[in-house]
Amino acid sequence: MLEQSLATFQAQVDRALDRHLPSADRDPKRLHSAMRYAVLGPGKRVRPVLVYATGQAFETALDKLDASAVAVELIHAYSLIHDDLPAMDDDDLRRGRPTCHKEFDEATAILAGDALQALAFSVIAECKSTSVTPPRRIEMLRTLAHASGSEGMAGGQAMDLAAVGTHLSLEQLETMHLHKTGALIRASVQLGYLASHIDDPATAERLDHYAHCVGLAFQVHDDILDVEGDTAVIGKPQGSDIDQNKPTYPNILGMAEAKKTAQSLCDEAIASLDNLGPAADTLRQLAAYIVNRDR
Ligand code: IPE
Ligand code: IPE
Ligand code: MG
Ligand code: MG
Ligand code: MG
Repeated sequence: MLEQSLATFQAQVDRALDRHLPSADRDPKRLHSAMRYAVLGPGKRVRPVLVYATGQAFETALDKLDASAVAVELIHAYSLIHDDLPAMDDDDLRRGRPTCHKEFDEATAILAGDALQALAFSVIAECKSTSVTPPRRIEMLRTLAHASGSEGMAGGQAMDLAAVGTHLSLEQLETMHLHKTGALIRASVQLGYLASHIDDPATAERLDHYAHCVGLAFQVHDDILDVEGDTAVIGKPQGSDIDQNKPTYPNILGMAEAKKTAQSLCDEAIASLDNLGPAADTLRQLAAYIVNRDR
């Protein structure tokens, strides 16, 4: 059942991404090719899937969620391009293919990230959906900006780099993960809610708690896959965190406790949706998928 929703949502966002990305034969061709290469590679599209699944909980039509789904995946793809650069994690493999700076060059990769970030905001600003009122659209832009910036993903990446080779407390590690990965996952659920015809602060708060738990669990499981995953399956170099001496959940808590933490975050996420009906089942299934995936 989840497989069906995943396939539907992934195909939906892939079509929308293709429409919004500049064509590779438009100048500057090398930059546009690099943007398309990084975005359209075989990622899981977890953040767009969370946008659609949140909208589905309120019976929102998929096309009304496209701009939000595209925007979060563009920010994510940009963050991966920069994350892989020599100045950051210095990785050569992403989504089973050479990283953007290996396939193109470093300057092109930096610019592709910059341009994808700008495109994400323009997709929301220019979205033609009449169901989103201008104040809501501004709220969506504000949400995405906050999640991407120094108090969100970029801030988390700065904490990650500063932590290399040092010891972090569990609390510091949790803060880093909530920023570098949790913030954009939280924004994905918030955008799915904002693009829906619903204004119910109590529900918004429960959804936000769900997204907080799922966002942290996602990065805890990513840390686990760095140890236990198979490079051919995860599509990126297994052991990258270990090689670079990064503080991670398995490294600070031990593998058994890291797995318990991920599972209890998943349970807590599902419990936050108690007052939502069966329309929220995909969100429930996604929480379980996030801590059980092999890639
Ligand atoms: C990898 O994200 C980077 C993290 C934030 C952990 P994903 O695991 O969602 O990567 P793709 O999009 O499927 O390649
Ligand atoms: C990446 O964390 C988080 C962001 C890209 C914002 P990681 O460095 O652990 O991601 P992977 O493992 O390279 O995908
Ligand atoms: Mg990193
Ligand atoms: Mg990395
Ligand atoms: Mg990782």
